[in-house]
Amino acid sequence: MDKIIIEGGRQLHGEVRISGAKNAALPLMAATLLCPGKHILHNVPDLRDTRTMLNLLEILGAKWEKVGETTLHINSDEVDKFEASYDLVKTMRASVLVLGPLLARLGRARVSLPGGCAIGARPIDFHMQGLKKLGVSLTLQQGYVEGAAEDGLQGGTVYFDVPSVTGTENILMAAVLARGTTIIKNAAREPEIGNLINMLTDMGGRIEGRGTDKLTIHGVQKLKAVEATIIPDRIETGTYLIAVGAAGGDMTLTHCNPSHLPSLIEKLRTVGLEIEEGDTAIRVKRVGPLTSVDIKTMPYPGFPTDLQAQIMTLMTFSKGLSVIHESIFENRFMHVAELRRMGADIRVDGGRAVVNGLGKLMGAPVMATDLRASASLVVAGLAAEGTTEISRVYHLDRGYDDLVGKLKGVGAEIRREKE
Ligand code: EPU
Repeated sequence: MDKIIIEGGRQLHGEVRISGAKNAALPLMAATLLCPGKHILHNVPDLRDTRTMLNLLEILGAKWEKVGETTLHINSDEVDKFEASYDLVKTMRASVLVLGPLLARLGRARVSLPGGCAIGARPIDFHMQGLKKLGVSLTLQQGYVEGAAEDGLQGGTVYFDVPSVTGTENILMAAVLARGTTIIKNAAREPEIGNLINMLTDMGGRIEGRGTDKLTIHGVQKLKAVEATIIPDRIETGTYLIAVGAAGGDMTLTHCNPSHLPSLIEKLRTVGLEIEEGDTAIRVKRVGPLTSVDIKTMPYPGFPTDLQAQIMTLMTFSKGLSVIHESIFENRFMHVAELRRMGADIRVDGGRAVVNGLGKLMGAPVMATDLRASASLVVAGLAAEGTTEISRVYHLDRGYDDLVGKLKGVGAEIRREKE
C-alpha cells in the first residue's frame, strides 16, 4: 500500500487544472446503460471510482474504449446482464446507480445492498421506495435487492423525506423510459444532477424543473446514444481553495465552475481570503491571519458535506472558536482523531465539532477512513510544521485525479512512496 509524505510549510503558487467531477461522471456513465448505441463522454476524471464503474459496465455487457486523456467511448449495444455484485458495491456504493437504468432498459436488476460505511449508515431505502412508486416489485434476497418490472415502468409521484443525490439520479434514470409522468418532490438540486438531466434530455428524455426541488419527467419510449461532457469537480476545486487558505500562497484554478461553490466562497471570504471569480477560473490568495467561522453542512446550495473535513482543517489554522455542524451524515468526523494527533484542539458533541483554532498543526503519521477525511489530512500536512505521512492513500485515489502531481506543480513538497 502506498503512502503520501508531505514536508509542510511551503506556500502554494501557480495554476491547477480542475478535472471532471467524480459525482457527475458516475451517474452519466450509468446512464449509458439506458439505450443501445455508442455514447461519448468527455472530461472523465481518471479515478479509482470511474475505473470501478467501467468495470461494472463491462460486466453488464457494455464495451468501452478510452480515447485521449479524458474521453470515453461506451458502447451499450449488448447490455444484457443485470447484476451488480457485492464485491463491486462494497468498494463503491455508487454502483447502486445502475439500478434505475437496468430496470428501465431490461425490466430487471439485482444489486447488492450496500452496508454501512465510514461516514454513516447510508441506507438506500429512498431509492427503493421511489422505484416501488414506479411499479417495480422489489425483494431482498441474500443481501441483494432484486427488482423486476415485467410490464415496464409506470410513472408515479416520488417524495424524498430528505433530498438524496443518487436517489434522485436513480429515479430520474428509471422514469425517463416509464409510461406516463413521474414527479419527484423534494429532489436534490446538486449541479451533478443538472449534468445528468442535460444528458438525459439530449438522449430524448423529457424532463422539467432542472435546478429545482420538483422534477417532472414525461416518459418516452426510446432514447438515443449521445455525446456529453462531465462538469468540473466542485469538491476538488473547493479542496484546493481551502489548501491555499491553510498553507498560504496565491493560486488560480482553471477549467472549473466557481458558480457551483456559492457557500464555500462566501465562507472563505469571511475567513479572510482574497478570491476573484471568473466564469471558468478562480483565484485565491491568502493575505493575512484567518478568522474563524461557523459551518453547517446542507444539501446544495448549502455548504457541502464533502468539504466539511477540509474546512475543519482550515479552522485549526485560524485563531478562535468555530462550530462545525454536520447535518447530512451522522458519523462524518473520523478525521477529528487524526487532526488531534497533529495538535488540533477539537471537541465533538453529537453532530457538532467545536474547533479551538490554535493557528498551527504539527506533522505526524496519520491515516483516514474515507475519501474526504483523507483530503483534509493532505490539507493539514501541507500547512503543518514538519513531516506528515498519510497512509491508506487508496481513499484519495477514489476521488482526486493526480493529487500529488497537481500539488507538486504549485510548489508543495509532496511525494508518494510504497509502504
Ligand atoms: N439517505 C437515506 N436513505 C436513502 C438515501 C439517503 O436515509 O435511501 C440519507 C443519507 O443517509 C444522508 C442523506 O439522506 O443522510 C443524503 O444522502 P444522499 O443520498 O444525498 O447521498 P448519496 O447520494 O449516497 C452523494 C455523493 C456523496 C455526498 C452525498 C451528499 C455520489 C456518488 N455521492 O451520496 O459523495 O457526500 O451525495 O452530498 O454522488 C464523496 O464524494 O466523498 C461522497 C461521499
